[in-house]
Amino acid sequence: MLIRELLCFDAEGQDAAVRGWVRTKRELKNLVFVEVNDGSCFASIQCTFDCNDAKMAKKGVFNTLAALGTGCSVEIKGKLTPSPAAGQKTEIVAETILLIGGADDYPLQKKRHSLEFLREIAHLRARTNTFGAVARTRSRLAFAVHEFFQNRDFHYIHTPIITANDAEGAGAMFQVTALDIDKPGNLPPDYSADFFGKKTFLTVSGQLEAETYATALSRVYTFGPTFRAENSNTARHLAEFWMIEPEASFADLEDNMRLAEDFLKFLFTTALEKCAEDLAFFDAHIQKGVVDTLRKVVESRFSHITYTEAVKELEKQSGKFTFKPFWGCDLQSEHEKFLTEAVAGGPVIVTDYPEEIKAFYMKMNDDGKTVRAMDVLVPRLGEIIGGSQREENLERLESRMAELGMHVADYSWYLDLRRFGSVPHSGFGMGFERLILYVTGMTNIRDVIPYPRTPGVAAF
Ligand code: 4AD
Ligand code: MG
Repeated sequence: MLIRELLCFDAEGQDAAVRGWVRTKRELKNLVFVEVNDGSCFASIQCTFDCNDAKMAKKGVFNTLAALGTGCSVEIKGKLTPSPAAGQKTEIVAETILLIGGADDYPLQKKRHSLEFLREIAHLRARTNTFGAVARTRSRLAFAVHEFFQNRDFHYIHTPIITANDAEGAGAMFQVTALDIDKPGNLPPDYSADFFGKKTFLTVSGQLEAETYATALSRVYTFGPTFRAENSNTARHLAEFWMIEPEASFADLEDNMRLAEDFLKFLFTTALEKCAEDLAFFDAHIQKGVVDTLRKVVESRFSHITYTEAVKELEKQSGKFTFKPFWGCDLQSEHEKFLTEAVAGGPVIVTDYPEEIKAFYMKMNDDGKTVRAMDVLVPRLGEIIGGSQREENLERLESRMAELGMHVADYSWYLDLRRFGSVPHSGFGMGFERLILYVTGMTNIRDVIPYPRTPGVAAF
């Protein structure tokens, strides 16, 4: 049985076997306590060995115990008994122990290692309280993403990872090639001789392909890895991250904002209900008040503010910022922080950004200057979701693309959506790791994905 199951088991005196990794061993005069964890839940189970037990002595149990250290894998058999220790229902009165794998010079000896140190041993860090809790929360919330959309008739679409187009038009893409560019004479590369006969990249977003399916199945979403080669060495950026992108036909920006708010609230509610034990740990040891913050967001109504109004608010406090705000500027994280914490006092959706600072596909407003964009900002983190209503008018979209110097012919498939049965449609993207940062209260995005990829770092 897994420890999660054993710990809620009531059958006193029942035989039980536990398999896992030793967290601690404590030796008293007549008793030895071994705490075993198998990652099935936050808690470990305590196994108690009675040193006066002749049967165990005969079986060599105490020799095994003497050699036992943190990190060893074991199988312990015994009887379940109600635990006198606070906070756990059941423990095991041990009868046998089998050492499965030793762990000499195990690097995780101390109770608390720094997160920086643990990043260097990413292959072992899941065995700590913090990273075990992050991994379980990630898993449960990935499932919740599917629950949310499946319950609302959104179909899951697998959009490609290798692509020839730059969906965000930002140019920060990793190139994919099968050419041996190290071979003398192969430079400059002849891409017509490459695997796909042209230059290809890792995708920055599945949105454009999702739009093609949204204009067939009405409501779709993608949830997959995305890649950005921007040199942003911040605590909120990864070069490889997972993004969830819903796309709905017959939906305008208001529908999109409602969907984003409902989505976040569903995910936070799920975390509060289904990851309570892990969240209690984050609240006590990682970020005080994180549980309360999530509860408040679930109960709140997200504020709405246009970009133009937001900039006016920022300009009133201009002196506060390192980067002076002005109409047309990209909002910096200090601005986002101010808007959520000082202006809105909670999550806020900023809409209608200047077209210059947003992607080519966003629907133009009647003012001819701003587009139907939305960014959902949350306190502490800033942008968690970015999305928009899409330009469904063929001529306007074509001329915007030409204005930006895009190679319009490469996007003829995308423009076909506007040629054949065009409809108003909207969608957004949420970085999965930004969500996990917010829910766990962790502060560095490198600590909420198993193997972070950031500039200069892609060890194994
Ligand atoms: O705002 P972004 O760039 O929007 C898009 O990619 C659109 N195609 C989405 C859509 O409308 N379908 O990215 C969306 C979200 C951001 O709000 C952020 O949560 C996350 O993706 N994100 C990152 N997360 C981690 N590391 C990075 N480098 C990220 N860049 C964006
Ligand atoms: Mg964005």
